[in-house]
Amino acid sequence: MTILDGKKVSNDIKDEIKQQVDKMKAKNEKVPHLAAVIVGNDGASLTYVGSKVRACERVGFESTMVRMSNTTSEIELLDKIEELNQDDNIDGFIIQLPLPPQINTQKVLMAVDPSKDVDGFHPENFGKMALDMSTFIPATPFGILELLDRYGVETKGKHTVVIGRSHIVGRPMSILMGRKGFPGNSTVTLTHSHTKNINQITSQADIIISALGVPNFLKAEMVKDDVVIIDVGITRVPDENSTKGYIITGDVDFENVSKKASYITPVPGGVGPMTIAMLLKNTLLAREQRM
Ligand code: GUN
Repeated sequence: MTILDGKKVSNDIKDEIKQQVDKMKAKNEKVPHLAAVIVGNDGASLTYVGSKVRACERVGFESTMVRMSNTTSEIELLDKIEELNQDDNIDGFIIQLPLPPQINTQKVLMAVDPSKDVDGFHPENFGKMALDMSTFIPATPFGILELLDRYGVETKGKHTVVIGRSHIVGRPMSILMGRKGFPGNSTVTLTHSHTKNINQITSQADIIISALGVPNFLKAEMVKDDVVIIDVGITRVPDENSTKGYIITGDVDFENVSKKASYITPVPGGVGPMTIAMLLKNTLLAREQRM
């Protein structure tokens, strides 16, 4: 069994990006600048955005965190997005999700200039992804592809089962794994809350990508020997023994499933750090496209 070490690979990617940025600096070129908008005080969202900003510092990017109150109206957020669209200094930006209920998420994501949409959430970019055109691929799916690629995990002709159809992970992942090319060329089954007999489906899978958010959902008896496991779950489970008061738990019963798997991502230290590295990669791409 091989651990797909997202922490290590993401550090390698950040080092590669830093080298590119150092070259830009040496030529007196503008370095990439990422902005992140966060609306409200959700603890997990603040943690993620904080990590994204710290990662920018580490590779030499400029970054701006835009904090807006929980009572921000849709119009106020749309005005801020227009400001970022027009700001020549900003190469790419993200709107951290989820948004408070008074704001229509789809309307907001459609307001982002597709050339600055480093999350790849705009329908134009999502459509390009589905049509094999070059575009920003959403960071988490992009990170999973990169992990599979760097470890040389075969995906061609394999049966990939994706659990969860979220717009951020499950849906794009199901498209990407079936695309022509590597990693891709899989036969994909997309499962969700209405799927019947999910155990039967997962036990036929060569590769399982779980983005459900239910701690320890995937058990050893649901998978076959030598399965490849990608665990995208990051649920905060209360834990009195932890200083934070919670532990981050994946969708997979790691202890038992890892005994049957050929490759598996840990939680934490698997997909999570890859997401941030790929957001940086998309931001570098956005800067290069604006030169
Ligand atoms: N919320 C959870 N994951 C993500 C992500 O990748 N991007 C944004 N903007 N919000 C998220």
